[in-house]
Amino acid sequence: MQVIGRLVLFVAAVTFFYAWFVTKIPQSESLPPEEIKLDPETLTCAQVVEAGRKTLTSKGQCLVCHSIEPDPKARGPAFSGVGARAAKRRPGLTAPEYIYQSMTQPQAFVVEGYPPIMPPANKPPADLNEFEVSAVVDYLLSLGGSPTCELDRLKELLRAAAREAPKPAVDMASLSPADRGREIFLGKGTCMACHITPHNPNPQAIVGPDLSKVGSRRDADFIRKSILDPNADVTEGYPPGVMPPIFASLLTPEELNDVVAYLSSLR
Ligand code: HEC
Ligand code: HEC
Repeated sequence: MQVIGRLVLFVAAVTFFYAWFVTKIPQSESLPPEEIKLDPETLTCAQVVEAGRKTLTSKGQCLVCHSIEPDPKARGPAFSGVGARAAKRRPGLTAPEYIYQSMTQPQAFVVEGYPPIMPPANKPPADLNEFEVSAVVDYLLSLGGSPTCELDRLKELLRAAAREAPKPAVDMASLSPADRGREIFLGKGTCMACHITPHNPNPQAIVGPDLSKVGSRRDADFIRKSILDPNADVTEGYPPGVMPPIFASLLTPEELNDVVAYLSSLR
């Protein structure tokens, strides 16, 4: 009973988050990622903290849920003062250890009064590298505490990040419809927040039915209708009204065809 209660709460939290998140999309799209250029040879603590601040406000997408100063509309705790309270959150963890864990394993400790909706910062969609995570940790420590700035380690992480070949932007035109649909499912479509498929790395995606083999139980017309008009035929065992009826306007007709092709291919 308690588990069901928690699941219902979780679903309610996710729905609420979605209703709110969708209104935020145009706003976050108008923020171009700030470019961060750093030289590992001359790296200073001030540069690390500034890189962390920029990462948090752009690529990290942290302000989708958090605010710096307390804001009743924010879905997560305000960051101001986190550098001080982090040392007292969990016995046995220092402040930098706690913040690092909050970012990479958010479900290891869920701050009281908040839903467990935070995605790991080092996985998609933010997908921060190890240097970026560490820089954000130092920036957050500076809010009410002091950054540790382990410069030797940070320099090594920066060199490692530079060695990693930058991921080429996916050339959608060269992909098959099903592969394009997979990219949309995992990206712009936001479907990855609620549905498991073999390509979805998000373990929290249990709000909607598992779609791993949806192509063998549903035909393309049914899948299309489930996306365009989610409440027309609600899947048994799931509450109505959770899947947002926004995809007819969020996706172009071509994108919708691609997502249907992707899901139909999952057998
Ligand atoms: C989808 C919403 C969401 C996003 C995006 C998100 N968070 Fe969170 N975060 C939360 C929520 C909700 C909590 C409180 C519940 C918990 O502990 O998981 C939280 C907790 C935290 C905490 C612990 C705060 C404390 O007072 O103990 C830290 C630190 C944190 N987030 C950092 C980040 C950073 C850095 C990013 C960006 C890389 C980020 N979060 C992105 C929702 C989010
Ligand atoms: C906020 C959570 C949420 C999001 C986001 C979401 N869904 Fe759903 N989806 C659900 C829930 C809950 C159900 C089951 C209830 C219903 O049918 O409305 C469902 C049902 C479905 C079904 C029917 C599955 C079946 O076997 O009957 C399909 C197909 C589907 N969703 C595809 C998608 C696609 C594609 C996207 C992205 C464009 C998406 N969903 C986004 C929550 C979500």
